[in-house]
Amino acid sequence: MAYEYIATETRDRVAIVTLNRPQALNALCAGLIAELGEALKAFDADPSIGCIVITGSEKAFAAGADIKEMKDKTYQDVEAEDFITDDWEVTANLRTPTIAAVSGFALGGGCEVAMMTDMIIASETAKFGQPEITIGTIPGSGGTQRLTRAVGKSLAMYMCLTGEFIDAETALRAGLVAKVVPAGDLMEETLRIAGKVAGMSQPVTRVCKEAVNVAYETTLAEGVRFERRVFHATFAFDDRKEGMEAFAAKRKPDWKHR
Ligand code: HXC
Repeated sequence: MAYEYIATETRDRVAIVTLNRPQALNALCAGLIAELGEALKAFDADPSIGCIVITGSEKAFAAGADIKEMKDKTYQDVEAEDFITDDWEVTANLRTPTIAAVSGFALGGGCEVAMMTDMIIASETAKFGQPEITIGTIPGSGGTQRLTRAVGKSLAMYMCLTGEFIDAETALRAGLVAKVVPAGDLMEETLRIAGKVAGMSQPVTRVCKEAVNVAYETTLAEGVRFERRVFHATFAFDDRKEGMEAFAAKRKPDWKHR
């Protein structure tokens, strides 16, 4: 499939979607968002893919929604088209595990898309920010919500109210990213992690991801109850039996559903 604003490739069971609009630091224009959504949905539906990596360039994961495309919209326009459309949320609604590999700027909508993935691996050059306040608006694709859940109120307020960026180390300390790696190692390390995730039993991976996500949406008591039921349900999977038998026999599991 030929895309204008992204590039896609697969390596073994890992799909890589690269945002590719370098002249605008991968600003998320409507065309890019539509292509990203299409590619992600196709990989999500492909049983041979066990993990999806979203990345950008060395300089920018994405510098936000396309300000030039947005600047002349009126309230009537954004209300009528329900801007941000569901296309923006595709990343958050996939069953396949996702990883954002972030180098350089992840700002505004770029930070929001990264936060929609299951984990962020950051190059030491990464910079995260919600600078919408500096252009007279606020985050519109979950930034005030996901950032606050990820880093807590004080740092989220600081980022949203000043528009200042945080560096990779600060993002790591705050829990926004899972790991920071030297700039040259970003894709190698991300693909190592993605390969590991993609090598697990897929049905177990899917329910594990679902259970972690429930932590964001419900009370602790409800979440723990949900987890226990899903834990019980894993005993219906062939691969649960295989995993435990393989451990006892001191061999590697041979997953049936990979
Ligand atoms: C459109 C953008 C852009 C953006 C950069 N460019 N960000 N175009 N929308 N978000 C374009 C610039 O206009 C410029 O085009 C080219 O990319 C290179 O950018 P420079 O500014 O020259 O690069 P640099 O000096 O290195 O500065 C990098 C930067 C800066 C700090 C990232 O570009 C910047 O502040 N960008 C905007 C960041 C931002 O405010 N993002 C939030 C957007 S609002 P030309 O043609 O001049 O070469 C948002 C709302 C989300 O995301 C709501 C829901 C989706």
